Order: sequence, then structure tokens, then C-alpha cells
Amino acid sequence: MGSRLIGYGSYLPEHIMTNQDFERVMDTSDEWITTRTGIKQRHFARDDETVADMATIAAQRALDNAGLTIQDIGLIMVATTTPELDFPSVAVQVAGRLGAKNNVPAFDLRGACTGYIYALHCARGFFTAGMHRRIMIIGAEKMTRFIDMSDRSTAVLFGDGAGALIFEHSSSSYSGIIDTVVMSDGGAFDCLHGTPDHKISMNGPETYRRAVQCMPAAARYIMQHAGITSENIDWIIPHQANLRIIHSCAAHLDFPMDKILITVDRHANTSGASGVLALAYAFDNGIIKAGQLVLYPAFGSGLTWGAALIRV
Ligand code: ACO
Repeated sequence: MGSRLIGYGSYLPEHIMTNQDFERVMDTSDEWITTRTGIKQRHFARDDETVADMATIAAQRALDNAGLTIQDIGLIMVATTTPELDFPSVAVQVAGRLGAKNNVPAFDLRGACTGYIYALHCARGFFTAGMHRRIMIIGAEKMTRFIDMSDRSTAVLFGDGAGALIFEHSSSSYSGIIDTVVMSDGGAFDCLHGTPDHKISMNGPETYRRAVQCMPAAARYIMQHAGITSENIDWIIPHQANLRIIHSCAAHLDFPMDKILITVDRHANTSGASGVLALAYAFDNGIIKAGQLVLYPAFGSGLTWGAALIRV
């Protein structure tokens, strides 16, 4: 039992914060941000805009795209690290706001920037077990809740947004979520973590070093496990944290940059929403076509990392 992708949707807050906007409020420059990270702009949510607000809009757009209503969904998983409320989950709030009457199971999972890969991993397991007919995966983050404008080394890196994907079970194991792998190393907690007062503590160079090891390793594992080479893959959508990390991963994998989707320049790092937003952007702009094979490596706080192989 496999799956197929039947709908997608995304939401980006209206307000765009450019590097030039940062130049006006802190000691930084477009030149520094661009050369160190590749980021040119990011979307910032309004103060009154919540993770659940953004997730609900992305979810409704995915349902519209699939021609479904929330009653047709058998499970909702939201990858988020930045919910405003400790309980209930964002997933349950989304179900409620969309008027679910089918007691749909719904829960959040926290995998930081790897959260959407963890969600895909769970979905693959549920489909393999034949447990759900349709699963909605949402990645939604309000990273601005953690942005400290007095810390220029992290403030410029992140953005807000939400993306949603709907998968349906299929008898083919060569479509939808074909393979996944997820890992963690809690011993590397100090690399990157949130603080109790909602700030980001990051050892940038060490995080960078681990990212360029772990993402290619996860990608290689998937290719070996699925019995494919880089030539079989149409697109790599790496977690969008930093263009230099992406370039380095491409070099490690000997994968040409023209097959690597880049959205970090326009979205910055949206953590658990990153890969879902990137795929939605690629569909909206006709970059990735139905039937193509996409490899999705990701890495984030935890440390956590992993990869998924998807035929879209
Ligand atoms: N503007 C101008 N100067 C800055 C800024 C800024 N926004 N931020 C830091 N600097 C300065 C530092 O103060 C330092 O100055 P100093 O030498 O006078 O002390 C100088 O720039 C160099 O700082 P480094 O930390 O050495 O810069 P580096 O080249 O390592 O780049 C960066 C920093 C971009 C954070 C890099 O380490 C990196 O990309 N790390 C990965 C972190 C990441 O992507 N985290 C996201 C979450 S994890 C994930 O999603 C994969």
C-alpha cells in the first residue's frame, strides 16, 4: 500500500521584510546577509496572526486544490515548533476552524526544521499499515515569535509561513511518499535550541558543519535504500536554511544546481514549513511537474535530520 499526492496549498503573510529593511533597524547589510545566507527577503506575520491562522489558510487551499472538504480527510498532522498555545494542538484547531464533523484525528509533531520530513515518515507508515485513506500534512511556523532584534546573527535568518499537502492511499508504491528516513542526535542539543524566554541560541558554524554532513548522508541513504542514483531524481528540495549549505550539499552529492529548488532567497528559513512551502512554490510556478521524482533532505534543531523520496 502506497500513496499519491492529490493537493497542496500554502500561505505567506502579506508583510515582506527585505534585507534593506533590516539595514534600517540593526547593524547589518544586504551584502552580508546575501553572501552568508542567500536570503534577500522573508515574510513576517502580523502580531495578531497565529500559527493556527496560517495553517488553516494553507489547509483550506490544499483542500480546494484537491477538490475535497475537511470531512474527506482521515488524519491531520501539523509540523510546528512555534505554536502560541501549549494545548490544544494546532492540528485540532485547524480541524475545528475548517468545520470538521468527522472527529478527524489530529496532532502536532515537533521536529524543528526536519518536522515536515518526520510528518512524511509517519504518513508513510500509516499508509503502509492501511490505517488512513487520506492524510493532510501541514508545516506551519511563526519564527518571528523567536526573533530577537538585538541578535543580528539569528534575526535575519528566519521567516513565517505555512504549507499543506494532502496524500491519498494508492496501490502503487512508486508514487506519493515512496521512502523516508529520520534521525536525531540529542547530544548535539547545544548547536541550536530555543530558550525558555523564546529566543534562539545557535552555534552557527557548528550547525553549518553538521548540516552539510547530515543532509547529504540522509539523501545518500534514501537513494541506496530505494535503489536509485542521482540521475533518477528530477529535483532536490533541500531544507531552505542557507544557500551556502545548499551549495555544499549539492557538491557533496555531485548533484547539479539546476535541479535544486531554491526558495531561501524569498522565504528565508521557515523551519517546519520550509519544504512544504518550497514544493507549493514550485507547483505554483510550473517548476516541478506532476510525475517527477523529488528528494527532500532536511536538517534542524535537536539535532534532527532526514530525507523523503516523493513522486509528486
Ligand atoms: N550582519 C552583519 N554581520 C553579522 C551578522 C549580520 N546579520 N551576523 C553576524 N555577523 C558578524 C558576526 O558578528 C561576526 O563578526 P566578528 O567576526 O566581528 O565577530 C562575523 O559576522 C562572522 O560571523 P560568523 O558566525 O563567523 O559568520 P559565518 O560565516 O559563520 O556565517 C551563519 C554565520 C550565516 C549563521 C553561518 O554560520 C550559518 O549559516 N550557519 C548555519 C546556521 C543556520 O542555517 N541555522 C538555521 C537553523 S538550522 C537549519 O535550519 C539548518
